[in-house]
This record gives sequence, C-alpha cells and structure tokens, in this order.
Amino acid sequence: MRVMIAGASGLIGTSLIPHLRHGGHEVLRLVRRESRAPDERTWDPPAGRMQDGSMDGVDAIINLCGVGIADRRWSGDRKQAIKDSRVEPSEVLAAAAAAHRTPTLINASGINFYGDTQDREVDETAPVGTGFLAEVCRDWEAATSAAQPTTRVVLLRTGAVLSPSGGMLGKLRPLFSLMLGGRIGSGRQYMPWISLDDEVGAISFLLENQDVSGPVNMVGPQPATNAEFTEALGSALRRPTPFPVPPPALKAVLGAEMARELVLTGPRAVPSVLDKAGYRFQHRTVADALTAAVGR
Ligand SMILES: NC(=O)c1ccc[n+]([C@@H]2O[C@H](COP(=O)([O-])OP(=O)(O)OC[C@H]3O[C@@H](n4cnc5c(N)ncnc54)[C@H](OP(=O)(O)O)[C@@H]3O)[C@@H](O)[C@H]2O)c1
Repeated sequence: MRVMIAGASGLIGTSLIPHLRHGGHEVLRLVRRESRAPDERTWDPPAGRMQDGSMDGVDAIINLCGVGIADRRWSGDRKQAIKDSRVEPSEVLAAAAAAHRTPTLINASGINFYGDTQDREVDETAPVGTGFLAEVCRDWEAATSAAQPTTRVVLLRTGAVLSPSGGMLGKLRPLFSLMLGGRIGSGRQYMPWISLDDEVGAISFLLENQDVSGPVNMVGPQPATNAEFTEALGSALRRPTPFPVPPPALKAVLGAEMARELVLTGPRAVPSVLDKAGYRFQHRTVADALTAAVGR
C-alpha cells in the first residue's frame, strides 16, 4: 500500500516507518516545512494547505500529529495548543481523505478519552469521560467526521507507549535510576500502557485488517495499577522503590490538573477490539513490556 504519515518524526512515527517499509509498504511523510526528500510532501495544517498531488494514489493516511501532552505545564495557551495541534491536522486529513476517496484513515487519539474510571473496566463501547484530556480526545476524534462516509476511519485510543527512549519512560527512568521512583499516592489508580512494539505492530495490523473501523483501545491486555507499574519498572531497572511520591509534591511539579489527569487517575481500559480482531500482543504484561524496553 501507499501510506501517507503525518506527525512522522515523533516517537511512534520513527518506529512505524521502518516497520511498514520492511513489510513492503511505500511510505510518504507529510512535513511541516519544505520537502527535501523524494518521500516527503509539504503541508501546513493551520492553513489547511497540502502540496498538490500529495494524495495521488494514497491508500491510507496515518495521522500521528500533536504537540507533547506532558512536555510543558498546562497554561491556557498550552492547553489550546494541545487541542489545536490535534484537531486541525485531523480536519485537514479527513477532508483530504473524503475528497480523494482514500480507503483508510488511521487517526491518533488517547486512552484518556474515558477519563478516570477507577476500578471499572472499559472497552471501546464506553462513553467519553470528564476532564480536559477527555474533551480533547472527543474533539480530536470528531474532527475526522468528514471522512466517515467515504473512508474506513480507525481511531487509536493509545495508552502510554513504553519505548526504550522518550515518552513516559524517558522521563521516569532517570528518577528510578536515582532510586527516587515510587508509587504515586495510593498506587491504586490505573496506568494504561502499551509497548512500542505492540503500538507499531497493532497499527500495521489495523492498516491491513479492513474489517476494523472506529475506536480501538491501544493498550496492553492486562491493565496495571500505578503500584504494579512502579514495582515492574523498579524490578526491570534493578532499583528499589521504597518511597511513595505524595500527590501534593507531584502537583507542585506538574501543576494540579496535569498531575490529576495524567498520573493520579486513569482508566482501566482493555483492548477488546484488537482481541476480537485477532491481534496477537508481543508484550502481554507491563513487567514484560518494561523489561523489553529498558533491557535494550
Ligand atoms: N507516545 C504516547 O505515549 C502516546 C500516548 C497516547 C496518545 N499518543 C498520541 O499519538 C500521537 C503520536 O504520538 P508520539 O508519541 O509519536 O508523539 P510525538 O513524539 O510527540 O510526535 C508527534 C508529532 O506531531 C507533530 N507535531 C508537533 N507539533 C505539531 C503541531 N503544532 N501541529 C501539527 N503537528 C505537530 C510532529 O511531527 P512532524 O514534525 O513530523 O510534523 C511530532 O513529531 C500523538 O498525537 C500523541 O498525542 C501518544
């Protein structure tokens, strides 16, 4: 297939591209600057512009755009940027898919769609939750609506991607190495996770599996609480984790809203759609995923 990827330079895109090429797909990258390579096409999402001919012969678009959710404290401007950098590119790509009758659009979203579900397990049939990130995910997904009549639209509700470098693990690993890692608060809150291998493997599976459309929970099959995650990361790094992190300390560092939505609460989400479609996870437990990620 000829696959066009937006947000290609990020954590997921940089692993996905070689994986797809290795699998025999032709990959084009949408870049937000002048194109410099034969596989690059220029676009400007806020202006709604795309280089002429970019969509010719494209079988699928994969949209991975968005400024980092946890890269900076959530000021009003930052929250607007988090939302706009997801909604605008999704609208532009959905309109392009509709205009060119592109068969498939795979669009990023987040597992925070469900908000905090405490002990209640949620699959893709659960409604949107409350909070800033849930609202962002709702609007992000709705931004693909122009493509729904013409195109198979897949919405990737992804949990924290566990990769050897970058992402959440990139931030936590130095703390754990200094023995400053510990469960957060009660540790009973859920931390939805997926290994980078499975994020990439499942996107590739969804690209080829024409029967799946709509929301897909991109999380490992066994949900983990923060305490379980902490123990598994400490064990993978061979570091003790004796000291719990008090929520007020975390709120002081991250800001209260980000701390609450990203770390102090989380959905207990399961990957029902992937399971039913027959996707075989490479990493089924958080311990397995963390050992694979930090052992590289
Ligand atoms: N990694 C995770 O744990 C995780 C979890 C849940 C959801 N997701 C979502 O999945 C998507 C991909 O994740 P990722 O980890 O690969 O993200 P990432 O490393 O932060 O990369 C996102 C990419 O988005 C593009 N981008 C940055 N600012 C932008 C802007 N203002 N407007 C449009 N595009 C912009 C950039 O690509 P270009 O410079 O090439 O355009 C950037 O490399 C994101 O939407 C993310 O929110 C990720």
